[in-house]
Amino acid sequence: MRISVFGLGYLGATHAVAMAQLGHEVIGVEPDEKKLESLKAGTLPFYEPGLGEALRQELSAGRLNLVSTPGPEVGSCDVHFICVGTPQLTDSEGADLRYVIAAGSELALHLKPDAVVVGKSTIPVGTAETLRTEMTAVAGFDVRLAWNPEFLREGTALEDSLAPDRIVIGAWSEDDAAVVQRVYQPIIDGGVPCLVMDVATAELVKVAANSFLATKISFINAMAEIAEASGADAVRLAEAIGMDERIGSKFLRNGLGFGGGCLPKDIRGFMARARELGVGESIEFLRQVDHVNLRRRDRVVELAKKELGALENKRVLVLGISFKPNSDDLRDSPALDVALRLSSLGAEVRVHDPKALGALGDRHPELLRAQDVSAGLEGCDLVILGTEWEEYREMDPRAAADLISNKVIIDARNVLEVEAWQAAGWKLIALGRNVHK
Ligand code: UGA
Repeated sequence: MRISVFGLGYLGATHAVAMAQLGHEVIGVEPDEKKLESLKAGTLPFYEPGLGEALRQELSAGRLNLVSTPGPEVGSCDVHFICVGTPQLTDSEGADLRYVIAAGSELALHLKPDAVVVGKSTIPVGTAETLRTEMTAVAGFDVRLAWNPEFLREGTALEDSLAPDRIVIGAWSEDDAAVVQRVYQPIIDGGVPCLVMDVATAELVKVAANSFLATKISFINAMAEIAEASGADAVRLAEAIGMDERIGSKFLRNGLGFGGGCLPKDIRGFMARARELGVGESIEFLRQVDHVNLRRRDRVVELAKKELGALENKRVLVLGISFKPNSDDLRDSPALDVALRLSSLGAEVRVHDPKALGALGDRHPELLRAQDVSAGLEGCDLVILGTEWEEYREMDPRAAADLISNKVIIDARNVLEVEAWQAAGWKLIALGRNVHK
């Protein structure tokens, strides 16, 4: 099929490559010239394992073409995906829909009447209806619109796109749904369930899934708070409750909490939309989910103060600044937030990250960049493991101990082997655990 993809950020770039890998002929549209040029040259403007090679493969095979503005070649496509961002508004908790509406309106100028437009961006329930009305007004005919939420995670984006747990299609007509299903036929034939439903439900599925995941993380972080107050161990607790198949052990890792461009803004946007619908109370518990999450950052700052006393001129090394490993995304990163807060309290903060220092660029010059872990460790008073990159999990505690006199580490992600670190002479403080002696 001939497919266009509007917006080549994380979601769109991955989707465009995935569609080409399924054998479709794809045109990606990205107005940001810098991003476009980088993608055209086969370089991702962000870090995502495996996606760069796949991009280069599809570009050289000619299945993927990239343009800055839609022209006749986009207009002649059978299916168009809208993958632009929906960030949180700066003055409220709601989602900023201007990019979705702008992409839809621009697309409507080029659309052929039998083409199907498919929204993938995360949006508040009811947005598809508004978009369809806007696009129909611009196009001058009834635009065929469907909604197909995306569940990919950063770090495993391409894998998640090509082998998802399920495909969800929200449509106003069976014919429209059938066209979207045809796009995914190779995946569906491989055994992935495809759920066709009404548009409002499909819009809701995405925010409901992200809200559930956020709630699960905050639940275990709330248990960590209780564990810290009572001398219990949240990691053992998670292990025990996670073995109940009804609960499950995934997304039950307590630590510094969730960040990134999705979970935090999605729960806030969802609360804002529920209030607009007059049912704000139904999901008011997400407020607590948000608060518990942010309190974990406070906890790490408190622990640092407890260890170091006044923070002025104390040297702290923060290992990992991306919001999760295998990503260089700094959006709402808990680790970066902690680093900045310690710095604002007077500490000399060094940061290290295997991939995200490039994304940090020259922002936050108050944070000193450690080019490698050893350089960062030298002479520092406290180490905080903020993002659980493999490199840190595999660190040799004995070699690290030789570089530092005040051997104190806060494992804010609960990934270090407590006994090995203690045996190497470290005081290891783990969140939600009473392990330090
Ligand atoms: C999330 C969802 O998992 C995807 O399904 C969804 O498609 C995506 O948002 C989106 O809306 O586009 P992502 O933001 O890439 O994906 O990251 P997650 O893997 O969900 O992790 C989110 C945060 O939770 C990270 O900061 C991670 O460190 C934290 N986390 C995760 C925990 O603190 N504990 C856990 O047990 C799991």
